[in-house]
Amino acid sequence: MKIKNICCIGAGYVGGPTMAVVAQKCPNIKVTIVDINAARIAAWNDEDLNKLPVFEPGLDEVVKEARGRNLFFSTDIDKAIDEADMIFISVNTPTKTYGKGKGMAADLKYIELCARQIAQVSKTDKIVVEKSTLPVRTASAIKNILENTGNGVNFQILSNPEFLAEGTAVQDLLNPDRVLIGGDTTEAGQKAIQALVDVYANWVPNERILTTNVWSSELSKLTANAFLAQRVSSINAMSELCEKSGADVNEVSKAIGMDSRIGSKFLKASVGFGGSCFQKDILNLVYIAKTYGLTKVADYWEQVIIMNNHQKQRFSDKIVSTLFNTVSGKKITFLGWAFKKDTNDTRESAAIMVADNLLNEQAKVSVYDPKVIEERMYADLDYLNTRTEAKNRELLTVSQDPYEASKDSHAIAVLTEWDEFKTYDWQKIYDNMHKPAFVFDGRGILDVAHLRSIGFECYTIGKG
Ligand code: NAD
Ligand code: UDX
Repeated sequence: MKIKNICCIGAGYVGGPTMAVVAQKCPNIKVTIVDINAARIAAWNDEDLNKLPVFEPGLDEVVKEARGRNLFFSTDIDKAIDEADMIFISVNTPTKTYGKGKGMAADLKYIELCARQIAQVSKTDKIVVEKSTLPVRTASAIKNILENTGNGVNFQILSNPEFLAEGTAVQDLLNPDRVLIGGDTTEAGQKAIQALVDVYANWVPNERILTTNVWSSELSKLTANAFLAQRVSSINAMSELCEKSGADVNEVSKAIGMDSRIGSKFLKASVGFGGSCFQKDILNLVYIAKTYGLTKVADYWEQVIIMNNHQKQRFSDKIVSTLFNTVSGKKITFLGWAFKKDTNDTRESAAIMVADNLLNEQAKVSVYDPKVIEERMYADLDYLNTRTEAKNRELLTVSQDPYEASKDSHAIAVLTEWDEFKTYDWQKIYDNMHKPAFVFDGRGILDVAHLRSIGFECYTIGKG
């Protein structure tokens, strides 16, 4: 079976870039990305490529090439489902905020809505692809809905989790370590797998396309994120020990990373991992383990989250204790709000918890981030419900310029590793700050020797 028409439900951080690359690499396939969020679709269709709703290096070029040719963004979900032979579901699967599994389980209501809509609209056979990250065995729930509420057409369900990281999404999609496709072991299932393999084979070498059964594919995604996050929590745990013992966490990372069994990636100590995936997926994994009665497995993975929360907490505690145990009324400048560099995404960013802690101490926080807009920062804080929206706007201010953001401040805190922070005129920043002027580098990116020569008092995560 040759795929000619793809529909992707969900035009977010995954659906948008992923399908843009599919369209670019498969000019003979019509790709339509749909979403219930009309503003998001309008932004994807904006003439001005700077206004795309997702910032990713290189994405504008991909969209420019394919949009209007074989890549379309639309709010007409029914039409796109009806026309497609293959439908990707790439909607959000956040942590549940209510009922059973609250704060742990993945909320599958958006997935279920998609399945019901596909069942209702489809008049021809379809391959339905899970692109969202889902608990293991979700495919059977989707299959149940499709088969019991549909119009008697045949559905094949595949799992094709996405491994892209934000900030490098386009590169990750163009040159993936692997593409994982899980499907039924039946003949029809194998044919569906092959149809999706053929799509990727337009640009991904065959040996990097891995096919498995559905459950292995679903569980591999949660496992990959758990392992990656576990590395960050492990090195962050060592960072605290480094600070006490006089070791340097960068030197420790390098020393252990040269062991080929450990490997050098994902060993950068930080103020804590953020992003929409790690926490959500580990909590989900913990929940699944508990559901099966695997308490020890659940406890093991939960430690990764506990360590991460501790890392964020101890960073704000360090700021308060260093500033003579009070930050009340003091201006503290945040460089960065995004959860990592080269993205405008702030979901679960460490900056949010660190800011909230400092605001509780009555600090005045001033933020500069090259890509994150003011409304997003306030929305992140308001979501916590710690204080009134008016109070958040009174205590936290947002600047478009790092020099203005740091003027008259007592301390600078680096929350995101944006490259431009390294190139600032730090003498100028120092001259306009209260003394003693402090820098808290939560990402270990600044040249501490240079800063100290200017007169700054410096703290870097993981350095004794
Ligand atoms: P997102 O919130 O950016 O996008 C999801 C989109 O789906 C939203 O625009 C929303 O309006 C839309 N949507 C929800 N319900 C819908 C419906 N019924 N019909 C049409 N549109 C609907 O989320 P995301 O970051 O793109 O993540 C999507 C999935 O991919 C999640 O399961 C996530 O875990 C997974 N994932 C994310 C990343 C990442 O880096 N962000 C990486 C790998 C996997
Ligand atoms: C992650 C996975 O990497 C990706 O495969 C999956 O598809 C989605 O989840 P993402 O969250 O976009 O991607 O970014 P990632 O590069 O993994 O970083 C996550 C967080 O960990 C960031 O806050 C980052 O700053 C932090 N991190 C990462 C560290 O603190 N140290 C590291 O060494 C690596």
